[in-house]
Amino acid sequence: MIHPSKKGKQLLEWEVYATIDQLSLIEQQVLQLAKEHLQYSHSPYSNFKVGTGLLLENGELIGGSNQENASYPLCLCAERVALAAAASIHPHTPILTLAVTVKHPEKIISKPAMPCGACRQVICEVEQKQQQAIRILTQGEQGEIFVFPSGLSILPLAFDASYL
Ligand code: THU
Repeated sequence: MIHPSKKGKQLLEWEVYATIDQLSLIEQQVLQLAKEHLQYSHSPYSNFKVGTGLLLENGELIGGSNQENASYPLCLCAERVALAAAASIHPHTPILTLAVTVKHPEKIISKPAMPCGACRQVICEVEQKQQQAIRILTQGEQGEIFVFPSGLSILPLAFDASYL
């Protein structure tokens, strides 16, 4: 029998809020902004809308939405649209919170809208850059709201600049 010399394990923790009014006022506003930005989604190919909201340390809120392209691989996720906007407008202001929500054209999504793997990688890059964790707040079109303490917590063992 071959045995490993050690085993690794990582615990994933998050908070669950049953409704939006259980969040702090400012986090209600970030999630509300993400919902408002669903209307700016350019998604004629998937018809799947994603809205995002960012809360910056200076109190400013920045929204984003997915922006698709007839050349499909060029589609931009809503998370990365908002993060790039924040980096362009306020390059030195840390991001405290990222809210994500979705709207499916034919069904109601009642589970939290989790950022895709590529967006998790980008969120981790921003966390490294600003040396500060970003709270990730996610909700489907309805249902429970999940809050994760950081991007890194949802991308365990992430690749980062330390390898380069
Ligand atoms: N999408 C996002 O905007 N964020 C994610 O984290 C996952 C997927 C977008 C990309 C595409 O426009 C549509 O959702 C369907 O994949």
